[in-house]
Order: sequence, then C-alpha cells, then structure tokens
Amino acid sequence: MKRREVQPGVEWLGAVDWDRRLFDELIPLPDGTSYNAYLVRGEDKTALIDTADPTKRETLLAQLADVPRIDVVIVQHVEQDHSGSTADVLARYPEARVLASEKAKPMIVDHLAIPAERIDIVADRSTLSLGGRTLEFVYSPWVHWPETMLTYLREDRILFTCDLFGSHLATANLLAGDHPRVMSAAKRYYAEIMMPFASMIRKHLDAIAGLPIDLIAPSHGPIYDQPSRIVDAYRRWVNDPPKNVALIPYVSMHGSTAKMVDHLVAALVERGVHAVPLNLTVTDIGEYASDLVDAATVVFGTPTVLVGPHPKVVFAAYLTAALRPKLRHAAVIGSYGWGGKAAEQAQGLCASLKAEWLDSVFVRGMPDSKTFAALDALADQIAGRHLKLES
Ligand code: FEO
Repeated sequence: MKRREVQPGVEWLGAVDWDRRLFDELIPLPDGTSYNAYLVRGEDKTALIDTADPTKRETLLAQLADVPRIDVVIVQHVEQDHSGSTADVLARYPEARVLASEKAKPMIVDHLAIPAERIDIVADRSTLSLGGRTLEFVYSPWVHWPETMLTYLREDRILFTCDLFGSHLATANLLAGDHPRVMSAAKRYYAEIMMPFASMIRKHLDAIAGLPIDLIAPSHGPIYDQPSRIVDAYRRWVNDPPKNVALIPYVSMHGSTAKMVDHLVAALVERGVHAVPLNLTVTDIGEYASDLVDAATVVFGTPTVLVGPHPKVVFAAYLTAALRPKLRHAAVIGSYGWGGKAAEQAQGLCASLKAEWLDSVFVRGMPDSKTFAALDALADQIAGRHLKLES
C-alpha cells in the first residue's frame, strides 16, 4: 500500500496486515489488522505519528522514500506494533527527534534501544507548532499501557488515538464510513484490549469531549469520518448497565455437560433471558470477549478433568476475570466421573470478578430429573435477577 492522503498535508502510511491471524500470540485476528502511521506536514516541520510493526518496516521505509525530511517522530505508545520501526526511521532521518510522554521515554530506551539523547518529553496538553499546524499532546494513560498519549491536530480537527478506538481490521477503505463490520471489529477490540481499563477510558472520553473533532485516526483499522459513532459506542460500552444476556461457555467430554447446557439454555429462553451457549472447543475467544461487553451473567459449564475444570474452561475463566467485564452474576455447572472440585476451582480462578455467585449444579455421570430441576432453579435465579438489571 502506498501513502494515502487523508486531507491535504496529512497522509496515512504504514501497513495493512491482511494475513496476520494472531496478536500477542493470544488474540485471534479473523480480519487481519493494520498498523497506521500518519505524516503531518507543516510549513516548517514534518511530523511522523507512530510507525509500524517491525515485520512491516520495509513497507514503511519504502513509503518514506520521497520524504526528504522528518523533524519529529511522535511515539504515542511504546508497544512494538506501533513503535517497532522507530529506530529504522531515526536511522533514515538522523536529524529527527522522538517526542513522547514522560513515562514513555525510559520505556522507549528499554524496549527499542533508542538512546535517551534522541528523545524529548512532551508534557500533557503541551503543543508543538509545525508551521501553520499545531499538534497538542493529550496524555491518556492505561489504554492499555501506562505511557500512552493521543495527539490532536488543531487546525484539521483530527485526533490521532493510537490503540484507543482501534480495530483489528484489514481493509482497503481508508475511512470507516458507516460500515457495520467496522463497529463489530471495534467492539471486539475494545473487549480484548480496553475493557479491563473501562474506568480510565471513561475519564479519557470526558477529556476529549471538549475537542472539536472531524476525524478520529487510530493506529489500527480505518479512520472514523463520523467520530460520534465510535465515541458514542465507547460511552455505551463503558457506561451502560449489562443487558439481559447470559453467556454459557462450556466444554463437554462425554455429553453430560452438553445435556445440562442444552437444558439450561431452554430454561433461560423460556424465562425471557437471552442465552448464548459457547462451545469452547470451537469458539473464537475474541467473540466470547466481545459478548462479555454486554452480558449480565456467565455460567461456566465443565466436565471434571482429574479433580478440576477442563483446561479450556480454566482458560476461559481466567480470561473472563482478567477482562473485568460488567458481569453481575456467575455460576458453574457440570459433571464428574468419580469426584473433584471443578466448581470451586473455576470460581477460584475468577476471584477478582465482582459478581454474585449463584448455586452451582454438578452431577456424577448423566444428568437426571433432579439435575434438571436444579438447573430450572438456577434459571429462576438468573431470570429473577435480570429483571432488576436497569435498577
Ligand atoms: Fe496496538 Fe497496544 O498496541
């Protein structure tokens, strides 16, 4: 991909990574991703905002082939998918200075081996004139690292946001428009990366509320030409109470737990609860994370492996707690062959979850009428509590 004009004097560059299918060796990327950088030219200075993942450094350097001078490289966030080609850019432009937040400077030295002498700290809300264009730096810690900052281009009313508002979406579209795929990718990204920091995100949304914004230019995914769509969505995701949704991530080895899940799903639906069973052997964990943004209840379904939950349920339970969703209620159901403590261990993995634990339902072998009655009682508990969600 060549450099593309966002508007006169402001260009997109970087890379669309169509083929990447895993991020952090953890997060599935069904739609690939992009690493966006931006070139902003003033009358006196040229700034490069972010770079690209080191696997795409050659792409970035080729895009800069006819750019004679870069005065400043703004490292908004030190994670390598954005900063990882900074040293290569500095080698090409020996006069360029790195601008970063106070917390970012030592991290750039440690993570990127860039000498501290080449890095200038910019203060929160400080500005830099490029000549006819003014950059304002807005500290935004904990989206999802402590050193991150946004950059606001005043005259053009563009807010560059690095990870914030991003989406793992490889697309040839420079602008998001009103394409629904963009919002589902952005929600998934929020769930995977931003949700544990919802309280900080809320503050950042307030901090940028006073800025007139025509474009939001993140460093993953397309540029938002209707900024209110993504800002309003973020407001809903961080502020709205959970919805009448019960997620049931589960594994079944010999069919007992699957029968229990089927029964519980039917019982919840009968009671007006939107139940979502997720077989963890085939579920994309990013979709589960995305569902967690709105869910009020999670019920883990697990057989017993040795004395604990199935390892795939262990992973789901750990991840659920780590993502800090708005869940209000949780439970564990499942089966065992000869004994064990699967329910207690699954609950222990979610110790940090601020949810009310409802009665677990476990059976040795196949579920029977007593098991189904206990699942009906659990469905009653969940449905009764969901009635009060808006209050
Ligand atoms: Fe896209 Fe936190 O890096």
